[in-house]
Amino acid sequence: MKVIIRKNSAEGSLWAAHYIADRIKEKAARSADPFVLGLCTGSTPIETYAELIRMVKAGEISFKNVVSFNMDEYVGLPKTHPESYWSFMHKYLFDHIDEPAENIHILNGNAPDLNAECEAYEKAIAAAGGFDLFLGGIGEDGHIAFNEPFSSLNSHTRVVTLTEDTRIVNSRFFNNDMNQVPAQALSVGVATVTGAREVVILAFGPKKAKAVHDAVEGPVSHMCTVSALQLHEFGTIVCDDAAASGLQESSRAYFAAVEAAEKR
Ligand code: PGA
Repeated sequence: MKVIIRKNSAEGSLWAAHYIADRIKEKAARSADPFVLGLCTGSTPIETYAELIRMVKAGEISFKNVVSFNMDEYVGLPKTHPESYWSFMHKYLFDHIDEPAENIHILNGNAPDLNAECEAYEKAIAAAGGFDLFLGGIGEDGHIAFNEPFSSLNSHTRVVTLTEDTRIVNSRFFNNDMNQVPAQALSVGVATVTGAREVVILAFGPKKAKAVHDAVEGPVSHMCTVSALQLHEFGTIVCDDAAASGLQESSRAYFAAVEAAEKR
């Protein structure tokens, strides 16, 4: 695992956006196959998406041959509800880039058969060639996608029940009323994320410090599902100073040294 630490979220987001752009360009240079990208919602990726949008508008990168799959969606929230992840992704990314509409995949939390929807999603990911890169956030409780504590580290896309903690955290988008936050969601599993050839996780702000500590320095445990990244060959966590503040000084020094050595 690598940990990239930047002064603030703006710098961390620039790092992540340029990294993703480089990976897309690198694949385009060697293959006509689409770049298969996993995407997340939440406050955390907004600055990364803004930089990707800037790069598309400046002609520095194109999403024409990118196929994306979002990691989760609430159950029962109308697709066009302002807090649906469908709305979020269009507002903060898809409406501003050149990714073809047919390449965009978001779980349908209103599907008549939710289990069939989840199974079809896994099949579509496999049919697209599997993820080249999965971009994720991290919950205060260490969740990756909506894989709450005690989710199987071998899980795949399925219906999940949100913890009260997550509904309270997300109630800031629902008039601060946790009862308005859907109790269930469709979510890719931990194994769906770690099945990606590469995983990049963003974590900004002091509220993420414990989850980052648990993910990087704690045991691999379903108590902190993002800790499954420790078993991945190409996992990176991008933090700001605040989110990295729970790491030991020696860990921070090690990750900085690795980054410096790779730049040489
Ligand atoms: P946030 O959510 O980006 O809004 O902090 C992250 C998450 O819950 O995974």
